Amino acid sequence: MRIGIIGCGSIASEIISRSKNVVAVYDICPDKCKKFGIKICGSIEELIEESDLIIEAASTEAVKEYASKIIDSGKDLLIMSIGGLVDDEFRDSLFKKAFEKNVNIYLPSGAIGGLDIIKTAKIAGLNKVTIKSTKNAKILGVDCKTRTRIFKGTAREAIKRFPKSTNVTVLLMIITGMDIEVEIYADPDIKYNIHEIYIEGAFGSAEITIKNHPTPENPKTSYLAALSPISILEYIDKKVLIGV
Ligand SMILES: NC(=O)c1ccc[n+]([C@@H]2O[C@H](COP(=O)([O-])OP(=O)(O)OC[C@H]3O[C@@H](n4cnc5c(N)ncnc54)[C@H](O)[C@@H]3O)[C@@H](O)[C@H]2O)c1
Repeated sequence: MRIGIIGCGSIASEIISRSKNVVAVYDICPDKCKKFGIKICGSIEELIEESDLIIEAASTEAVKEYASKIIDSGKDLLIMSIGGLVDDEFRDSLFKKAFEKNVNIYLPSGAIGGLDIIKTAKIAGLNKVTIKSTKNAKILGVDCKTRTRIFKGTAREAIKRFPKSTNVTVLLMIITGMDIEVEIYADPDIKYNIHEIYIEGAFGSAEITIKNHPTPENPKTSYLAALSPISILEYIDKKVLIGV
């Protein structure tokens, strides 16, 4: 399978270091792609032409700009900037188009986990889903002396305020189909990106805590998030699916 990547940042670096199938990249700043030593495309159309699967690892704007074009071309699409799917109308039309064109859209678990529990629990009904995310204050651009809550609201509001740090909240919103409660904390001393997820429903309740190291290239991006598309690539052509 020929893989093309949009965005030559920290997630692209991790994927390219672990997969031999990446054949081409595209970035609005082409200079950022030179470090990889693989084909640099001059346009999104050229990247689509070169690839069977496109991985978006760029920005929420990139999702809005390119996703429909990629699906129209009949190519599979893996989206990292899940925040780009926050608009219901846009997301529904994209998913519908994927069905019509018989192509796959992959939304990786990114910086969180426990989605297997959530999907399973949802079958009998969920009544509460919350996420508390704590990040280093500097990463969030906040000046504080102790751990401070800087946001409380819905995933839709969170991604507007913090478009690079709350993709996981939109993923939870999509997978649960609920307007989940989000709290964001800035901590001046913390070195991890912490996500604490709580779910409650007919099945019982679950608490899932993930303490993420950031990637070396981009402190906003958790290492686990950069690894998550690779776990999808490892599963894509498997006939036995475990823990999905
Ligand atoms: N789903 C998750 O859990 C999760 C976790 C971390 C990061 N992310 C998201 O994944 C994306 C990539 O993360 P990263 O750490 O690699 O970012 P990064 O900032 O290290 O790299 C992004 C690259 O994309 C390029 N880019 C931005 N907009 C573009 C566009 N419209 N067209 C082409 N190139 C464009 C930039 O020039 C940059 O080189 C970000 O949107 C980030 O918010 C998602």
